[in-house]
Amino acid sequence: MTDTRPVEALTEEEAAAELARLAAEIAHHDKLYHEQDAPALSDAEYDALVRRNRSIEARFPELIREDSPSRRVGTAPAEGFSKLKHGVPMLSLDNAFAPEDFAEFCARIRRFLGLKDDVLHFVGEPKIDGLSVNLTYENGRFTRGATRGDGAEGEDITANLKTLRDLPLRLKGAPDRIEIRGEVFCGKQEFLAFNQAEAEAGRRIYANPRNFAAGSLRQLDAKITAARPLKLFAYAMGAASSVPVASHWEWLKQLEAWGFSVNPLSQRLETEADAAAFQARVGAERAGLAYDIDGVVYKLDRLDWQTRLGFVGRAPRWAIAWKFPAEQATTRLLRIEIQVGRTGALTPRAVMEPVNVGGVVVQHATLHNEDEIARKDVRVGDTVVLQRAGDVIPQIVSVVLEKRAEDSTPFAFPTLCPACNSHAVRAEGEVVRRCTGGLICPAQTTQRLQHFVARNTLDFEGLGEERIQELFELGWLRSPADIFRLPDRAAELGAREGWGETSVRNLLRGIEARRAPAFDRFIFALGIRRIGEANAKLLARHYHSLPEWREKMLAARIIGSEAREELGSIQGIGPSIAQELVEFFAEPRNLAALDDLAQFVTPQPVEIAASDSPFAGKTVVFTGTLETMTRPEAEAQAERLGAKVTKSVSKKTDFLIVGADAGSKAAKAAELGVTTLTEAEFRSQANMA
Ligand code: IVH
Repeated sequence: MTDTRPVEALTEEEAAAELARLAAEIAHHDKLYHEQDAPALSDAEYDALVRRNRSIEARFPELIREDSPSRRVGTAPAEGFSKLKHGVPMLSLDNAFAPEDFAEFCARIRRFLGLKDDVLHFVGEPKIDGLSVNLTYENGRFTRGATRGDGAEGEDITANLKTLRDLPLRLKGAPDRIEIRGEVFCGKQEFLAFNQAEAEAGRRIYANPRNFAAGSLRQLDAKITAARPLKLFAYAMGAASSVPVASHWEWLKQLEAWGFSVNPLSQRLETEADAAAFQARVGAERAGLAYDIDGVVYKLDRLDWQTRLGFVGRAPRWAIAWKFPAEQATTRLLRIEIQVGRTGALTPRAVMEPVNVGGVVVQHATLHNEDEIARKDVRVGDTVVLQRAGDVIPQIVSVVLEKRAEDSTPFAFPTLCPACNSHAVRAEGEVVRRCTGGLICPAQTTQRLQHFVARNTLDFEGLGEERIQELFELGWLRSPADIFRLPDRAAELGAREGWGETSVRNLLRGIEARRAPAFDRFIFALGIRRIGEANAKLLARHYHSLPEWREKMLAARIIGSEAREELGSIQGIGPSIAQELVEFFAEPRNLAALDDLAQFVTPQPVEIAASDSPFAGKTVVFTGTLETMTRPEAEAQAERLGAKVTKSVSKKTDFLIVGADAGSKAAKAAELGVTTLTEAEFRSQANMA
């Protein structure tokens, strides 16, 4: 642990040792935060380290290290992406916490510019807690996009950024070359839904929407990014061949005219005195916003003044981030509930005495899993500190040990399913305990049905959680196919309280309209573990139709079979996913439920792009490092032309596209007589400019 002795008490020798340790420790936490998206410290704990480093440096300036954290902004790019240099550095902002800080910021501007009575106009913009990106447009086209990285250069995430709907690919009337900066983020609801699905699948969940956005943008496979609910607000200009506006406010209007989303709460403030009221107004709206913000950024409106003011250290003199106070409160933990999810995952949830945390009344918090409860040693009856800071789900930060009852005991995580009493087991290496009851577990069954009808699967209107529960209890709904049997019970349904003719009619109409779902949605709707939207798409694209998929999955149960090899070779489908699929099809009850359902619905086969490209309908493998495009971009292009992209070369491979430093795949292709193309040959045959 870090030394906590007062800085004044340190000898020079001790200070040097302490700075070395802080540099290493902060670098370690930066890495966890920025590269692995898995912070181990709270923001406050991290800030404490940075502040201690700074105050030791202030006392011993001659000891400031080459690798001191105060010399860096963010972290150096991770391996796996190539690096892009920003046209002008991407810096950070100084913080204000109180009206006096803002007043001092204004006074400094006046002093610097030698102003007396001129009014300072500002633009106030919510400070989104996301990930800043730099978007380069050349001749009106989006050509490159990067993360902030260390401020000077970031990671080339062009392919991933192109999957964002909010990102215009072309700008009309833009300067020849311009960098546009903004924040990529994820909404609160979307984040919660994603995490819940991840937790159920036994995968690692993200700590907060910010880490989620960062993790999603830094995927090596752009298809994964494409399936993540990311948004973008644009807010700043980087390097530009000419500057099309005179004020920041006009710049925001220009961004909107180009098709960017600009935060709708942004406002031009007539005088500096308006900032406090704006701060209060946004603060009051904060809890109800669809995304997380942690303060308001105030930017001086006049760009000529911005230019004159320039930067000091790592931050501009013309902008400041006025942060909201942290949202914390203490309350009592009444009980820990265990919820059973669709795949049987037992998820603990804290139920507390309701308490107001930053304007929102909170009485539930997730505890994630049994290890988390043990790690924090949270016990029923404890007084706990709750926090909503940059995090949507309230989190239990700590336990107030002084207030713990003497007779309190650690929480015993159940080993039986609370819904069906079956054993709940924890597989080796997994954090999640699961109910083994399968189809006999009512919680799993109703959750699975809910998933089947949810918006991103078959999207049944008029079949919400309560209706499903009601129909399940009546015994009318046990499996997805039963939904399609409901028309036989139309009269009985109509006679039930709370249904009425219209809702029955709507339900029947909805059922009719869902007899031919998209194949990928159908696969996703089955609720197979680890088969989320993205994997369902990969499978649908590869196997085209339900009959073909079913047949190949049955054949793939035999290890070493051709079908098993084929499954393993699909780009994006790893061994654990393949195993999950095979296990699903090996269970006769699953197969029976699937066949039952297939009597009622015919998923739409995926059309192979009817292209006259040489790659249409062919199996293509990429190997080695590509120079003019990323691997995801190349694969996406091949798929657009109707190719199947797989990972390994076999006799079924039609083309191997070879980049630099290709290894064993090239040799194998030569051996099997597979056609080999260079990157340039691929580009020309794929009609890429
Ligand atoms: S302006 C030199 N505007 O805050 C100006 N930043 O602490 C730099 N941020 O890295 C940025 N919302 O990730 C600006 N409306 C906004 C912002 C914003 C969020 C983030 C951004 C930046 C960090 C600076």
